[in-house]
Amino acid sequence: MHLLTIIGARPQIIKAAAMSRAIAALHGRPIRETILHTGQHYDENMSQVFFDELGIPRPDIQLGVGSGGHGAQTARMLEGIEAALLKERPDVVLLYGDTNSTLAGAVAAAKLRIPVAHVEAGLRSFNKAMPEEVNRIVCDHCSTWLFCPTSTAVENLQREGFSLGTDQRPTADRPHVVLSGDVMYDNSMHFAGLAAARSTILADLGLGTGNYVLATVHRDNNTDDPARLNALLGALLDVYAEHSTEVVLPLHPRTRQRIKDLPPGPVSEALEQGRGIRIIPPAGFLDMIALERHARLVMTDSGGVQKEAYFFRVPCVILRPETEWVELVAHGQAILADADPVRIAEAARHFLNGTRPETPPLFGDGHAAEHICAELLRSFPQ
Ligand code: UD1
Ligand code: UDP
Repeated sequence: MHLLTIIGARPQIIKAAAMSRAIAALHGRPIRETILHTGQHYDENMSQVFFDELGIPRPDIQLGVGSGGHGAQTARMLEGIEAALLKERPDVVLLYGDTNSTLAGAVAAAKLRIPVAHVEAGLRSFNKAMPEEVNRIVCDHCSTWLFCPTSTAVENLQREGFSLGTDQRPTADRPHVVLSGDVMYDNSMHFAGLAAARSTILADLGLGTGNYVLATVHRDNNTDDPARLNALLGALLDVYAEHSTEVVLPLHPRTRQRIKDLPPGPVSEALEQGRGIRIIPPAGFLDMIALERHARLVMTDSGGVQKEAYFFRVPCVILRPETEWVELVAHGQAILADADPVRIAEAARHFLNGTRPETPPLFGDGHAAEHICAELLRSFPQ
């Protein structure tokens, strides 16, 4: 079976590590993987670092589309992906998550009638103001296999009219919905030991277990309105002031640019002086896992970082109005606080003065990628 994997943004490159590992471990090598990198993310620390440290094969095809508006960026991807699919003629196109690279891959493959396998299918924020919500809905409805990380995702698809897998060979009109578990959980379990052995980031930054808060901010609705970004970063500074716990912020390039537009005032002054919030460049995955594992609290608007906090039993304040990962909130490990300074302060107080929440296993058995390979191979008897 010839599988063409499309990646482009940081979280997809990381997720691809789990699938490439599972494909390489299959007896008799029944799957041949071709990797296409759209180039949506291109900085060394947003792309190359993950290939170097996670053992992902080098991309066979690099489109190098770079940044741009949604229309221009997606259009460049569509054109490049279509040409690559016509040349490669894979049996299956594998897509991850909900970025513009996912959207372009889904539309290009569906129009060429190449079956799509969507990893992280069924997630919904029920907020179409998020570009990701549009991308994931389109991708799900173009897919032949919908690999769901959680049972909530399966239920979301059922509500949209998808039925669960049957014994018939799946097609785009008769798709299979499969509860596979989460490849990110696979990765966190797989790389945790390596991160403990290799990462020196805590020592490099002079941090100790439980004496800092880890934060990430990159969602467009948090970064692109200077007043909102100012309020959000101000709320992180308040957490530092109230709890004397430094906030470590590996900064996404989108946010790095937007910080330049902050209004003059206490927040921009504190950032300039490095007071309360320690800005560091985007971290490699092993360093990121180490930072997550040893943090006293995680505060984030990232989908992946929310879950990794859960995997490592670290409480999390979600800097968004809603989440696709509703089970984190239901189990009391995460609190939704949006960019509201009052809610952020209350949520931080709740966790910093309390005990560590329980985190029952909700994201599969750590072998989601193997289950996905097995399901795909069932449709391609050798
Ligand atoms: C994208 C995804 C988002 C995902 C995130 C993961 C979409 C619509 N959004 O958001 O779902 O959570 O990736 O990190 O696909 N930039 C650089 N260097 C890079 C990459 C980006 O400087 O290597 C800057 C550029 O100014 C660019 C901006 O960041 O315009 C935003 O990048 P883009 O890929 O468009 O969206 P993200 O915010 O990264
Ligand atoms: N991540 C990383 N370095 C960082 C920030 C995030 O390696 O500085 C990893 C994180 O551990 C997770 C993934 O990137 O595996 C999440 O990606 P991101 O937050 O960019 O996007 P999202 O998950 O919100 O789509």
